Amino acid sequence: MSSMKNPAVPTTTPAEFVASLGFDRRLAPYDIQASMVHVEMLGRKKIIPSTDARKIIRGLERIGSRWAKGEKPPREEDIHFALEKALFKEIGPAAGRMHTARSRNDQVVTAFRLYVRHHIDEISGRLARLAGAFLRQAERNSSVVMPGYTHLQPGQPVLAGHHLLAYAWMFQRDRERLADARKRVNVLPLGAAALAGTTFPIDRGFVAKELGFDGVVENSIDAVSDRDFLVETLSALALVMAHVSRFGEEMVIWSNPLFGFVRLADPFVTGSSIMPQKRNPDMAELLRGKTGRVFGALTSMLTTIKAQTLAYNRDLQEDKPPMFDAVETVEASLDVTIPMVETMALNADRLREACRLGFILATDVADALVRRGMPFRQAHGVVAAAVKECLSSGRALEDLSVEEWRRHSPLFGAWVKDVLFLDRAVAGRRSRGGTAPSEVRRQIAVLKKSLRSFL
Ligand code: ARG
Repeated sequence: MSSMKNPAVPTTTPAEFVASLGFDRRLAPYDIQASMVHVEMLGRKKIIPSTDARKIIRGLERIGSRWAKGEKPPREEDIHFALEKALFKEIGPAAGRMHTARSRNDQVVTAFRLYVRHHIDEISGRLARLAGAFLRQAERNSSVVMPGYTHLQPGQPVLAGHHLLAYAWMFQRDRERLADARKRVNVLPLGAAALAGTTFPIDRGFVAKELGFDGVVENSIDAVSDRDFLVETLSALALVMAHVSRFGEEMVIWSNPLFGFVRLADPFVTGSSIMPQKRNPDMAELLRGKTGRVFGALTSMLTTIKAQTLAYNRDLQEDKPPMFDAVETVEASLDVTIPMVETMALNADRLREACRLGFILATDVADALVRRGMPFRQAHGVVAAAVKECLSSGRALEDLSVEEWRRHSPLFGAWVKDVLFLDRAVAGRRSRGGTAPSEVRRQIAVLKKSLRSFL
């Protein structure tokens, strides 16, 4: 049995094992762009004849537009060899001058940096839209009161708008982290050649400027070995997914009929093949589920780099699949999260109703005792005893009479009845960043400014 060959499990040849074309074809447009600028520089510096440089650039342009339309690159080990092969076919022997003064080692990481830079900008744009979607929902639900939770147990009442704004801030921070990583992504490695630089009089500054890089990597060995920029970007992306997964988890819980806090729009729920009533929050579950891939990519990248000798080793080719997967996973997740947030409908009645559970105004009673002179720790004990009394008699704090309150402390008077109002409790939390409507309005203004000023 064990010696039987399974034709469904193909064996791998060494040539297949070393090949990366299956995934690195995503780098094609960036490799073409960088190659065009490299060759232009070679022509200007008279390292190659300018007629050949023009021929190569025009050839690359034609290949680029055909590949963009779906034509497949020739089957080669990787996208860089495939591009050179296609160029030979396109323009003949002049193609042989393209690879002057460079190596695949600096070529691949140049294309990769351009790819990462492009997708940082893509993702940052999506994050801005997502933060904007939370902001608009927050404004729409600015006067809705809901339970604020710790340990998923009722804590204190908050404005639903306040809760939603917490997400907007998370995604705004994610943009800041990506922008910071982008600074170290956006430096040019090209010109390092294999590892030591080149004997040709190249102009790295020109290439950097033309490709929109902010500067050049100063050490040629570092230029071809460094993958820190991938770890930094992945770490920012991992946090994006951590945030997305927290939202996904809340949607799963909030859409459960026991909560009934939210109705997700039809495209974001699925039915069941057997249970006709189902509105399963599959998209929200997948937001949780896909998070693991991006965390995995970060771990994978760190592990790939670890203990590699300088400079380039083929291990570094393994930097690509996790990065591509993380970028595509994050972009798809945001593409789904943005309209999910835009179209979700909070149920204001259910949210307010839920505040009746769990003695959510207990802190407000304790704070009121403090304002009448009692030390907070003592007030905490007094109200805890009142809660215990309610629990044993199946009542809420609102059901206790003034006399019953007074048995817990003589400081209580008729005023305690006025404390037990949700809107009053919310309105009272006027400390900076608190849940009072005035503070939430101020917060919205600050966030809007931050979203506008940070692009
Ligand atoms: N496909 C390779 C990679 O992704 C390109 C660099 C190959 N360089 C080399 N010295 N074999 O890393």
